[in-house]
Amino acid sequence: MNLTTSYLGLTLRNPLVVGASPFSDNTHVARQLEDAGAAAIVMRSLFEEQIDAEQRALMHHIETPAESNAESTSFFPAFAEYQLAPDHYLRQIAHLKKSLTIPVIASLNGCRPGGWTDYASRFESAGADAIELNLYTLVTDPTLAGDEVEAAMLQTVSDVVGSVKIPVTVKLSPFHTSPAQFALALEGAGAAGVVLFNRFYQPDFNLEDLEVTPQLRLSDPTELLVRLRWLAILSPHVRGSLSASGGAHTSSDVIKALLAGAHTVQLVSVLLRNGPRILAAILAGVTNWLVDHGYEDVGQLRGALNLSRCPDPAAFERANYIRILQSWRV
Ligand SMILES: Cc1cc2nc3c(=O)[nH]c(=O)nc-3n(C[C@H](O)[C@H](O)[C@H](O)COP(=O)(O)O)c2cc1C
Repeated sequence: MNLTTSYLGLTLRNPLVVGASPFSDNTHVARQLEDAGAAAIVMRSLFEEQIDAEQRALMHHIETPAESNAESTSFFPAFAEYQLAPDHYLRQIAHLKKSLTIPVIASLNGCRPGGWTDYASRFESAGADAIELNLYTLVTDPTLAGDEVEAAMLQTVSDVVGSVKIPVTVKLSPFHTSPAQFALALEGAGAAGVVLFNRFYQPDFNLEDLEVTPQLRLSDPTELLVRLRWLAILSPHVRGSLSASGGAHTSSDVIKALLAGAHTVQLVSVLLRNGPRILAAILAGVTNWLVDHGYEDVGQLRGALNLSRCPDPAAFERANYIRILQSWRV
C-alpha cells in the first residue's frame, strides 16, 4: 500500500504527523514516535511574547514588562516557566534533526507583525524543514474589527514567509467570519498550507474561590467534525496543503479527514493518552481500510468527500441544518 503523501512540498511516508506538543522536547520520545510510524513531527511553539520579552531583556531595558501594559503582560509566564527558551529551542531543532530521519516542523506562535518573526530564519538555519505559524488569538477589544485583525495576521504571515526559503503553513482558528476567503488570502500571502484548526482552551469558573481556572482538556473525536466540514469546503479551492488538527483519535478519524481533503492528520491527545505505540495501530487500521476498499494509494482517497461537486455548499449546509432540526419530534 502506498501511503506516501506530499505535504508542504515534503514527501512524507504516510499522512500521520505528531502535532505541536511537548513530544518534541525529548529526542528519545520523538524517536519512539518515528519508530512507531510518525511521518513528521511539529515542535511545541515558541511564542511571540516569549521572544519579545527576551529581546527586551537583552536590550537591558527591563526584565519585566513595560509599564504601559504591566498588568496584562504580567499574566504571561516568567522566562523560567517556558519549557524551551529561544536558544534552547534552536538547539532542540538541531538535536531532533540529528536524531530523526522524518521532517521536523518548528512552530512559531503569534499574530502581530514584530521583531519576533526574525526567529523564522533562525529556525531555518537550525535545520527546520518547515514552519507552522500558529495565529492563536482571542479578540476581546470591542473596537477592533475582524478585517483589522486579519490584516495584521496576513502581514505577519508575509513577514515570516518573506524571511525564509522553507515552507510556512498557518494554523488557523475556526472563528473567522469567512474561513474560506481567509485561507485563500493566506495563500496569497505566501502560506504553503493551512492547519485546521487551533483548539481554544476554555477556562472554567471555580465556585468555591470564585477564581477563573485555566484547564487543558484533551480532545475527543466529536471535535473532528468541524474540521471535516471545513476541510471539505476548502479542499477544492486551496492549492497548498491541508492538515487536520483536533479530534483525530482512530484510524477511522484519519480516513475521514483524508476523505474530506486533508494531506496530513495531526495527532496529539491520542498520543498523550496512549503513548507512541498507538501510532502503529492507527497506521495499520488505515492500511487495512484502504486494502478492504480497493485503494492502492492514499492519494486516490484524498478529497473524495469534499464539496467540489456541490454547486452551492452554503445552500447544501443550510438545507442539511434545516432538515436535521425538522427531523425531531416530541
Ligand atoms: C499539552 C499540549 C501542548 C500543546 N502545545 C501546543 C503548542 O505549543 N503549539 C500549538 O500550536 N499547539 C499546541 N497544542 C495543540 C495541539 O497541537 C493540537 O492542535 C490540539 O491538541 C488538537 O489536536 P488533538 O485533538 O490531536 O489533541 C498543544 C496541545 C496539548 C495537549
